[in-house]
Amino acid sequence: MDLKVDLVSDTATRPTDAMKRAMMSAPLGDEQKGEDPTVRAFEERMAALLGTERALFVPSATMGNQIALALHAQAGDEVVCHRTAHVLNHEGAGAAMTARAQLCPLDTPRGIFTVDDVRRVIRADDPHYPRTRCVVVENTSNGGGGSVWPLPTYDAVAENCRVSGLALHLDGARLFHASVALGVPVARLARGATTVQVCFSKGLGCAFGAVLALPSSLWPRARRLKQALGGCLRQAGIAAGGMLYALDHHVERLADDHRRARALAGGLAGIAGLEVEPVETNLVYFSSTRRSPREVVDGALASGVRVAAAGPARLRACLHLDVDDAGVELAVRALERACT
Ligand SMILES: Cc1ncc(COP(=O)(O)O)c(C=O)c1O
Repeated sequence: MDLKVDLVSDTATRPTDAMKRAMMSAPLGDEQKGEDPTVRAFEERMAALLGTERALFVPSATMGNQIALALHAQAGDEVVCHRTAHVLNHEGAGAAMTARAQLCPLDTPRGIFTVDDVRRVIRADDPHYPRTRCVVVENTSNGGGGSVWPLPTYDAVAENCRVSGLALHLDGARLFHASVALGVPVARLARGATTVQVCFSKGLGCAFGAVLALPSSLWPRARRLKQALGGCLRQAGIAAGGMLYALDHHVERLADDHRRARALAGGLAGIAGLEVEPVETNLVYFSSTRRSPREVVDGALASGVRVAAAGPARLRACLHLDVDDAGVELAVRALERACT
């Protein structure tokens, strides 16, 4: 099979030649010893961008989330998140291993919950109950359809965390997508969060790498957890060089991915038997009334287009750096053949 358009994930991108040159020319040192100048420059830039005191380079978004949960919760504690949250569904039950905490999922539309939804599940101080310690907000919400948290909804949840003494972890794997969609800086979207994870291998084109932004008071424990999880690398500047390049060259262009996602959704909406969820950023979720997700995936693949089955009824197509307008047109035609 000749793969022509890979929409399976926005992690499908490969570093561009220019990004590779930035990676190859980055000054390097031993990151584990805090001596890699490019990692340090990257961390300083991210702390400034996110409006936090410190930022810690981590190899993956999953590790950033797991360090955050372990910072905020311990055995016997509870973390509130959405039913579709990555920390609940896709991190190998990491919360049970690193924080040894239990997750309390909220079932609300499009991955977004309100302050009242949170208030309803905060536990009373009673030995029968777990202790509510942390709320996780995912922005954009992947399982919610690439949805963007409205600022007032986020602010109310953040304020409630502050007054209730709860930590707020922002899983901002796609925070730059939310920032571009709303036209507001990432620091504004992160205001009030205790910790913020941002990923660079989703749409920003890096091979790997993420960051966990946090207050200075949490830095020593976060650094220790990263070491224990095997996340302290050696010449990690080779990755951070690509991440700095992505900040300069691959953020504003996310608007192109959002435009192409809308174009793809528009094309799919014209296909009989396809139902397309609202598109807010680079993710397009849809379902077929005539074919199972597996049949659609296999049918599209036969035409060289890869999409993902996202559960028993849904499919997902992701727009990213390596998909152009022609790719979107090809994908619409392939999915039309696969679904009719
Ligand atoms: C919202 C969200 N958080 C975290 C992650 C974890 O990213 P990684 O698998 O690169 O560690 C993902 C991956 O898709 C994600 O969608």
